[in-house]
Amino acid sequence: MMIDWTKLSAAAEKTADRSILSLFDDTRAGDFSATMGDLVFDYSKTNIDRDARELLLALCEQADLAAKRDAMFGGEPINDTEGRAVLHTALRNLTGTPVMVDGADVMPGVLDTLARMNRFAEDVRSGVFTGQGGKITDVVNIGIGGSDLGPVMATLALAPYHDGPAVHYVSNVDGAHIADTLRGLNPETTLVIIASKTFTTIETMTNAATAKAWMGEVVKDPGAQFAALSSAADKTADFGIAPDRVFGFEDWVGGRYSLWGPIGLPIMLAVGPDAFRAMLAGAEAMDLHFRAAAPLENLPIMLALVGIWHNQGCGYATRAVLPYEQRLVRLPAYLQQLEMESNGKSVQMDGDDAPVNTGPVVWGEPGTNGQHAFYQLIHQGTRVVPCEFMVGATGFEPELAHQHTLLVANCLAQSEALMRGRSLDQAREIMAKKGFEGAELERQARHRVFPGNRPSTTLLYPQLTPYVLGQIIALYEHRVFVEGVLLGINSFDQWGVELGKELALALEPVVSGQADGAGKDGSTLALVRYIQRHAE
Ligand code: F6P
Repeated sequence: MMIDWTKLSAAAEKTADRSILSLFDDTRAGDFSATMGDLVFDYSKTNIDRDARELLLALCEQADLAAKRDAMFGGEPINDTEGRAVLHTALRNLTGTPVMVDGADVMPGVLDTLARMNRFAEDVRSGVFTGQGGKITDVVNIGIGGSDLGPVMATLALAPYHDGPAVHYVSNVDGAHIADTLRGLNPETTLVIIASKTFTTIETMTNAATAKAWMGEVVKDPGAQFAALSSAADKTADFGIAPDRVFGFEDWVGGRYSLWGPIGLPIMLAVGPDAFRAMLAGAEAMDLHFRAAAPLENLPIMLALVGIWHNQGCGYATRAVLPYEQRLVRLPAYLQQLEMESNGKSVQMDGDDAPVNTGPVVWGEPGTNGQHAFYQLIHQGTRVVPCEFMVGATGFEPELAHQHTLLVANCLAQSEALMRGRSLDQAREIMAKKGFEGAELERQARHRVFPGNRPSTTLLYPQLTPYVLGQIIALYEHRVFVEGVLLGINSFDQWGVELGKELALALEPVVSGQADGAGKDGSTLALVRYIQRHAE
């Protein structure tokens, strides 16, 4: 059934001037939150009331969400522009329950690869696997997009568990990235991992060649200190990496959903197989919850419906992800790929134009840093930005518990301030107390008004353990899926990245002066000429 979006926007319009604060009674905080174990998703500080929620839940029925969810977990080729199943969930299916693709159970292969990763990680971490100079001290992971963002984000997030070699990440084709990373590293004790599902991505292959040359200057058999995480076994062999150091995965694992399998190897090297497994277990628990919990209690569904309310209902074009957790510093970047590469589409599954705006612009930064940068606009700007706060009850620094208390207080204060705001009368009172009078008091007071009534959600968790990290990432993955289903789009292809890649390949010889740029537009040619003039 087609979704009737007009009802949603009409409902949102009706609530536009209603005070969120006025919705609160004794039950709202509990009623408008969903829990999964120790995880709490509070969406009571939004303008969603019972009627709006009913309307949103009805959208799930209209979009046949339950059947589509089952189709994903059941291995059906729901990524139909690429003819692929979508089964990153199989990578964390630790119980090994059969998952069938084209009549074959994929689980034995998944668990076998996980066991190989465990063995390799243990060997590297314990010093059984050595480089020319002995025990591996440093790992350099070369990958980009989904082959980089997830592992970087998780490695930083799990710093308290990091007891393996130092892990560095290189992604950008800008030579500065690899040069700055390799400087100071000893090639004789470095393991280089080439992470690329396709093993064709130009940035990764260029950096891989640079790393191989760097290694080859000192190490007699550089290939022996390389590993590959890829679906393209023929290409990893051509690169000179022995099969026992190649960890493969199937085409039903999308790049931005791939940190649960071989692409997660650098995380495993950093924190060890047990912590990595705990992360998988957290994600598996979220999968089970997503499949079994009633919609109202279902975190991914409710997180998605709040997103739909704000984006397609209220028309807010962006949303901010604001973790009050310094170690989640790369979560916003990770979610940008997850959400925007998945749901930044204009065409529905059937090829028709999307009738409403699709995925929002996702951005963010950890608190409290963001407070001193862009919160001004969030509080007083002309555009409303729904904010997604998240914070843990405790940190990992008991000796600095007072700092954690301050962090939490800031997080909760921001959502309160966004909702409550400050009226002109209150601002006048403040200015009067400061000694202002008359027209100047009025003028100064207006600058100190906070419109308030700005929506936010808060995700609470006990502590950022590997298990909780797994829950959070899987929560957002399934949120993206639910929003995609409601929008009727394919969340699992990414054709929008292709054109730029093609044009870059064609432009390279023009920039280097080997081709004349015939057919290029005047702007592009002028930009090329500038670069050529100044590169001489
Ligand atoms: O830029 C698009 C993309 O295909 C992403 O979806 C993917 O995560 C990234 O490039 C890297 O791809 P690969 O792992 O094949 O190098």
